[in-house]
Amino acid sequence: MNSDDIQKRVDELGALQAWNHNYTLPHGAETRPGAQVSHGKNLVKLERLKPLFDAVGLNGKSVLDVGCNEGFFSLHMAGEGAKVMGIDIDEQRIAKARYVQSVLGEGKVVRFDSLDIYSPQFKALDRFDLCLCLGFIHRVPDPFSAIAALADRADMIIFEWKALKFGPHDDAFAYFSPKSIDEADYYGTEYWLLSYAALERILLRIGFKHFHRIDDPRQRRAILVAGRQQHHLFERPDQIIHRGRLSALLTHGKRFLRTVVNIITGRLNA
Ligand SMILES: C[S@@+](CC[C@H](N)C(=O)[O-])C[C@H]1O[C@@H](n2cnc3c(N)ncnc32)[C@H](O)[C@@H]1O
Repeated sequence: MNSDDIQKRVDELGALQAWNHNYTLPHGAETRPGAQVSHGKNLVKLERLKPLFDAVGLNGKSVLDVGCNEGFFSLHMAGEGAKVMGIDIDEQRIAKARYVQSVLGEGKVVRFDSLDIYSPQFKALDRFDLCLCLGFIHRVPDPFSAIAALADRADMIIFEWKALKFGPHDDAFAYFSPKSIDEADYYGTEYWLLSYAALERILLRIGFKHFHRIDDPRQRRAILVAGRQQHHLFERPDQIIHRGRLSALLTHGKRFLRTVVNIITGRLNA
């Protein structure tokens, strides 16, 4: 494939649906050019996750990448020697992942399938050593059954998700997103933003006992490793950055005051 062929195909696929993952393909074609600063973007996310991948040891492991999107993390893990299956409900994302694999994936064998985690086909999948669940749990309307479905497939799960900017992280709290349905990316619609404790309590009910938390400096993109069995990773101290706690208090205080004012003015107007 020459440079024009690759750029043309990247543009064609991007015209059908904007690219999400930033890849640099042969001859310098970029799927989503521009600097990445947000912790939700694939290159930044990979930097945060790499030490965890090293601690788990990907070589020889079977990994299920749930909501793999355009396959960036699946291909990375395959490059580290894992046997990877990447699944996503969105066929266009899977088509892009397969295309990238065809130009970039030499020696990285990933099975990409279009699959809904709520489907019987998902339930019939083999079990895996590890499940990767990145940028996903805030994208499903029913996190409890989604998490239970994943938990049937692996005893260790790495979660990364959009949490609550200012907490509360230690209360089992879920906040329903104020955003509406994303018409341009239906399966990228935002639903519940879970605190660490909410996700952990769900997992405790389905047999997970060990957790390791990694926060980000803005307390926005949370990482949680969860396991049914002990692993040396769970002996590490959590990485929690306490910046933002004061803002949390002020935000909640403000909300509380607003509610009180509304009650009083409502009564006075009644
Ligand atoms: C925001 S993307 C995250 C992509 C990737 N894991 C990452 O971290 O960059 C969430 C993905 O979940 C997929 N998804 C949403 N609901 C799904 C479902 N029920 N079953 C499988 N995939 C789903 C979406 O199509 C989307 O590609």
